[in-house]
Amino acid sequence: MSRPSTAALIPAAGTGERLGMGPKAFVCLGQKTLLMHVVDAFDGLVDEIVVAVSPEMVNEASGRISNARMIVGGSSRQATVLNLLRATAAELVIVHDAARPFLEPAVIDRTLAATRRHGAVTAARPVVDSLIDTTSQMSVDREKLRAVQTPQGFRHELLLRAHLRAFEGGYSATDDAALVRRLGHEVALVEGSPMLMKVTTLQDLEMARALERSWCRADT
Ligand code: CTP
Ligand code: MG
Repeated sequence: MSRPSTAALIPAAGTGERLGMGPKAFVCLGQKTLLMHVVDAFDGLVDEIVVAVSPEMVNEASGRISNARMIVGGSSRQATVLNLLRATAAELVIVHDAARPFLEPAVIDRTLAATRRHGAVTAARPVVDSLIDTTSQMSVDREKLRAVQTPQGFRHELLLRAHLRAFEGGYSATDDAALVRRLGHEVALVEGSPMLMKVTTLQDLEMARALERSWCRADT
């Protein structure tokens, strides 16, 4: 039996408000932009790579990146992912934010393998800090908790159904796995990585720039 076709879907249409350096996906980290780090990580591991950027960036991005197809994103991350889902016919999709540039091949491999098996999966990490509920001032047991990251993998049909339901119902979530769970479908967990840090603020970017030097050495 042939393997189901696969696509990496990369939301990169955000404005990068909190970082304050223009569209975040186009900020440089070493020799490459955040977006190029992510696109290159998927190169050769999936059948196609589709990237969604803002209308202002689509020409520039198409000119600079040859190993992915560019489309225009939406006004929220969720709207952007829906556009991406409509732009591919792949049977399995892996959604990964341009804001998480350090994507190891092993993480992609285990996400793909678990997606083939379960149909819905997210990378997640145990929580290492102690936690407190600020309303009750009570400690929260961290053993049962996980921090959700991307990549997240789904059967295309399932994620599209989850997005259309959210669109019709007028509700939103900060990640795709949450929309799938709202359909009543379980989402499996695969081990994420501390390298999957999200670049949100200037401090994160400084940390990422420090990390990038050893990341590139490991790559060569
Ligand atoms: N994203 C997107 N379309 C949007 C909003 C966000 O594709 N309308 C993408 C971002 O490009 C990023 C990912 O979703 O890769 C996670 O979003 P976030 O880290 O919040 O990035 P921004 O929205 O760009 O940053 P900010 O919220 O600070 O403006
Ligand atoms: Mg945002």
